[in-house]
Amino acid sequence: MATTSNLSFLLYLTLITTTLYFADSQSFIGVNYGQVADNLPPPDATANLLKSTSIGKVRLYGADPAIIKALANSGIGITIGAANGDIPSLASNPNSATQWVNSNVLPYYPASNITLITVGNEVMTSGDNGLISQLVPAIQNVQNALNSVSLGGKIKVSSVHSMAVLTQSDPPSSGSFDPNLKNTLKELLEFQKENKAPFTINPYPFFAYQSDTRSETLAFCLFQPNSGRVDSGNGKLYTNMFDAQVDAVHSALSGMGFEDIEIVVAETGWPTRGDNNEVGTSVENAKSYNGNLITHLRSLVGTPLMPGKSIDTYLFALYDEDLKPGPGSERAFGLYKTDLSVAYDVGLDKSSQKTPPSTNPKAPITPSPKTTTQWCIPKLGISDDELQVNLDYVCSRQGIDCGPIQPGAACYDPNTVASHAAFAMNLYYQKFGRNPWNCDFSQTATLTSQNPSYNACVYPSGST
Ligand SMILES: *[C@@H]1O[C@H](CO)[C@@H](O)[C@H](O)[C@H]1NC(C)=O
Repeated sequence: MATTSNLSFLLYLTLITTTLYFADSQSFIGVNYGQVADNLPPPDATANLLKSTSIGKVRLYGADPAIIKALANSGIGITIGAANGDIPSLASNPNSATQWVNSNVLPYYPASNITLITVGNEVMTSGDNGLISQLVPAIQNVQNALNSVSLGGKIKVSSVHSMAVLTQSDPPSSGSFDPNLKNTLKELLEFQKENKAPFTINPYPFFAYQSDTRSETLAFCLFQPNSGRVDSGNGKLYTNMFDAQVDAVHSALSGMGFEDIEIVVAETGWPTRGDNNEVGTSVENAKSYNGNLITHLRSLVGTPLMPGKSIDTYLFALYDEDLKPGPGSERAFGLYKTDLSVAYDVGLDKSSQKTPPSTNPKAPITPSPKTTTQWCIPKLGISDDELQVNLDYVCSRQGIDCGPIQPGAACYDPNTVASHAAFAMNLYYQKFGRNPWNCDFSQTATLTSQNPSYNACVYPSGST
């Protein structure tokens, strides 16, 4: 139903999105800095690289002093980690937790903006019951150590989980935790609720695709046009796997009475290459996944169960890690090369955000390689209100000529919002880079290979 308040709310959302898009750094976009490599750039170079992007946070797996120091006075949020091997002593000996905070936090804080300590990585799904039982006591001791130096509340304490803590995640509304882990999880979640610490988890649509390699699943995983999946539990429509996975976690937390605990995505990413049996690894897919994820986060649409806010998300990873064991993909998640150039461009560079891509010599002005010509049009079922916002947004941009949809011009008829918006949205897509994320419009747009031109009304395309 079109009402004025509705319209101004949508316009307001568009303005927020636009403002954030041009903002310097975005606290909901983080990156993982894994260091299992022998070819990493010097810490200052990495710090400068991060400062040149809109990445607002970085997660370290340990507490490497060199990079923590290099990030001093940058404002960039830093997550540091205590290793699984540290858990037994942290759990059994409060002095050991004090020592850990004394050597890894106090020398650098607050110049280095440490915001979160993760105790252990994927401990709950390690199968090591001894370690699992020591997790909460270790976290508690680290919290006590922070409290005793008045850093409780300023620095949160959490632990990172793999999606395997859920035994049920499809449909998202049915998400629930492994019953075997529920006792420990309950203690952990009670601690986190009391201390307002986030639940940190690693959703990987890439791995979901490994177990279901249909092409519609790939599109669903890559935020590309697809017909979506309706959650049979609540009727909500999902258009991408990331939202589905995050909402499954939300449902699992709700099921235990902890729906208010903030969810943070500690890792998510897509590899550029892998072993022969690892399907879907390519630069093109990695670029689609991360580029579209960033656009999705910037849109502030949120997920169907948590609308209107973007979940803090640490992309995996800053660089390839050449010494990582395991399948080939493990060494190929990097967004940047170790010579500091982009592995593929996902629009994180600050300068690429400040000027429209069409006038920025660094931004890609040639269409990204694709086999077919594509046009950008509204998805089915999008309301006129939303399309009007898109129409106003595009036609108010410099360098866009909405003349063909003015009265008397070739694309004026049919004189409907849907028809005019389709023409305008395609203009925008063709003008600003022809990347998938240029055809998003807060998830109201889709790409088509069918030429929408009619009569004398010609929709521009890469080849016209
Ligand atoms: C520290 O990082 C957090 C998370 O990105 C951010 O919200 C906060 O403003 C930063 N603090 C400072 C002092 O820059």
